[in-house]
Amino acid sequence: MAKLMKRKTKTLIFIFIISVILSLKFPSEIEDERAKREKLEKEEMKFSVFLQRESAMSTQGGVISSADELHGLEYDFYRQNCPQAESIVRSTMAKIYSQQNDISFGLLRLLFHDCFIKGCDASVFLDDSNGNKNHSVERQATPNKTLRGINEIDMIKEELENACPGVVSCADTLALATRDAVVLAGGPFYPIFTGRRDSTQSYFDEAMDEIPKPNDNITQTLFLFSRRGFDERETVNLLGAHNVGKISCDFIRDRLTNFSGTGQPDASVDPNFLNELRLACQDSSSTDHDGTVASMASRAMIFQGLSSSVPSGARFDNHYYQNLLKGRGLLFVDQQLMADENTARFVAVYASDDGTTFRRDFSRSMVKMSNLGVLTGTLGQVRNKCSFPIRQS
Ligand code: HEM
Ligand SMILES: *[C@@H]1O[C@H](CO)[C@@H](O)[C@H](O)[C@H]1NC(C)=O
Ligand SMILES: *[C@@H]1O[C@H](CO)[C@@H](O)[C@H](O)[C@H]1NC(C)=O
Ligand SMILES: *[C@@H]1O[C@H](CO)[C@@H](O)[C@H](O)[C@H]1NC(C)=O
Ligand SMILES: *[C@@H]1O[C@H](CO)[C@@H](O)[C@H](O)[C@H]1NC(C)=O
Repeated sequence: MAKLMKRKTKTLIFIFIISVILSLKFPSEIEDERAKREKLEKEEMKFSVFLQRESAMSTQGGVISSADELHGLEYDFYRQNCPQAESIVRSTMAKIYSQQNDISFGLLRLLFHDCFIKGCDASVFLDDSNGNKNHSVERQATPNKTLRGINEIDMIKEELENACPGVVSCADTLALATRDAVVLAGGPFYPIFTGRRDSTQSYFDEAMDEIPKPNDNITQTLFLFSRRGFDERETVNLLGAHNVGKISCDFIRDRLTNFSGTGQPDASVDPNFLNELRLACQDSSSTDHDGTVASMASRAMIFQGLSSSVPSGARFDNHYYQNLLKGRGLLFVDQQLMADENTARFVAVYASDDGTTFRRDFSRSMVKMSNLGVLTGTLGQVRNKCSFPIRQS
């Protein structure tokens, strides 16, 4: 992969030099020159697509090791019916990100919630306003309904519908947009193959049972991840997503005062960190306990940066793991990675270098997560609006 990148850089420099030389030619050749440059640009694009594909398919150091793991997905599935699909996602995502640069974290979590429940089938988007007022959709099963990014995916999907009505699935839109958002936020690039289709239903009960909870112990967490085919190392790696984004104090308040009914704070929190967290979370404790529904904006949030020992702004690095080594994990589920010998060993591995190992593994884990239980071929459907299934006749 590194080698390929180097080759790509070399090629880009080469193309750059050529275009400089071309631009020095005589005015009479301007038309000719423009055509040539366009041709070069096309070549460059083709080449970068080729590189993506190569890096995706190569077994050594590559991200996908076998056709098996593709589950029927294809490279550039929309090449015929909507060749501009991926560039529409990329440019719309970039526009959204430029106005709201924490959107990447919302999407990353949204993808996790979608893919963990019956696969990456966009079931997480389905709304209960479609006749089902029983609050029995996945969206309602998320701890305190704090998923973000649904509206943004709707925006991207709308652009796709304008260009190619009824072609690109919501599930692919989410997978592609999340990948692009991760890259925009400084995370590693990973290849996304396409051809996912959308579910016709939502799975409330599964979401209640199978989405890991912030206070789950390590046994339960490993169990839930292993049901999705993730081993211990991959589980430790995926939780590294918590090196970015924010966490509401609601999810950690019990750790600070009365942990699982013991009347004591959680003993696995470092004492200094305990004080920092109490300070950071005290503002909202009164509003939350009098039963008023606090709006998202007024809820105290802890940014992953608080637990960080590195300068803020650093992202997708390994400070998450370095903090776990010091008892400075935000959620109980985070700190529990130190409670098991094997997972603690992987924490130490990820904490030990400049973040390269974490990022490399994270690319692989994200590919694997993005391909979980996908619907392809004639399964499922392609929704026009991500919140509503198309009525089957
Ligand atoms: C044991 C498994 C996990 C549990 C219990 C868990 C729980 C949580 C909770 C409670 C929050 C705070 C939400 C809020 O306050 O709004 C959160 C945030 C987040 N989670 Fe997880 N999570 C888990 C695994 C993952 C995985 C596998 C990923 C992605 C690969 C992920 C990505 C994120 C991100 C990016 C945020 C920040 C969201 C934002 O800033 O809006 N989490 N998680
Ligand atoms: C609502 O959901 C609950 C639990 O899933 C179920 O027992 C109940 O029958 C449902 N009610 C309606 C009107 O669908
Ligand atoms: C971990 O959690 C599970 C499920 O909540 C529970 O059954 C188990 O006893 C817990 N294990 C430990 C060691 O606390
Ligand atoms: C979710 O919100 C409810 C009430 O709004 C609160 O009592 C509860 O502690 C919250 N749960 C978590 C895990 O934050
Ligand atoms: C801690 O929580 C338990 C169970 O929720 C409760 O019975 C107990 O009174 C609480 N202790 C304190 C000191 O608040």
